[in-house]
Amino acid sequence: MQIDFHAHILPGCDHGSERRRTSLKQLTLARDAGVDIVCATPHFYPQRDDLAEFLKRREDCAKRLFDAMEETGEKYPKILVGTEILLCDNLDKLDGLEKLCLEGTNILLLELPYTGFSVEMFDTIESLNSSGKYNIIFAHVDRYDKNQIEQILRLGFPAQINADSICKTFVPLSIKRWIKYGAVISFGSDIHGTDEGYVNWNKAKRRLGNKWSSVMKETEKFIFETSKI
Ligand SMILES: [Fe+2]
Repeated sequence: MQIDFHAHILPGCDHGSERRRTSLKQLTLARDAGVDIVCATPHFYPQRDDLAEFLKRREDCAKRLFDAMEETGEKYPKILVGTEILLCDNLDKLDGLEKLCLEGTNILLLELPYTGFSVEMFDTIESLNSSGKYNIIFAHVDRYDKNQIEQILRLGFPAQINADSICKTFVPLSIKRWIKYGAVISFGSDIHGTDEGYVNWNKAKRRLGNKWSSVMKETEKFIFETSKI
């Protein structure tokens, strides 16, 4: 089973897709790349977004997409609705945070800040983790400074990387190491629009061979066993 753990495909929910036609095209690309499940993870910015408004928007956008999928009569990958949450101080105190977990699970997909990692940020992660309510995973760790990311991975948290990151001419040793030693438990297209997204999906799969399949098995286990509610 192939799972795209990180994708922006809900029409009108964020800048990933403006309209239903774009989302259907994204899902067609996913299907043609052999993806069975797409986790729809629109951005949630705690300092800017109101949680109730976001949840309503996400629900409405998902419904619009499901209706559009049905209307076409075509077969598409299954969709699990979740969120990509920007980690900020005091996120642990946000009322209703659990509603942002990936559908049917207690998984929180956290996007780390691009402005550096603060002591307060680590306190927030620690508080979320020690609450025992969530399984935390960090989004596209390939995008950050490797030394900073290793501070996070050393704490034992799993990570998602974008498939694109393993298709470059020179793949950083750090990324290879994170995959090899099991820190990476999911791949994502992180698709926005229809230009890229799945172009490198199969290339990444070919490059990694058996390791790709074993990461996919880890993703499946993470969603349907470890984190299932
Ligand atoms: Fe994303």
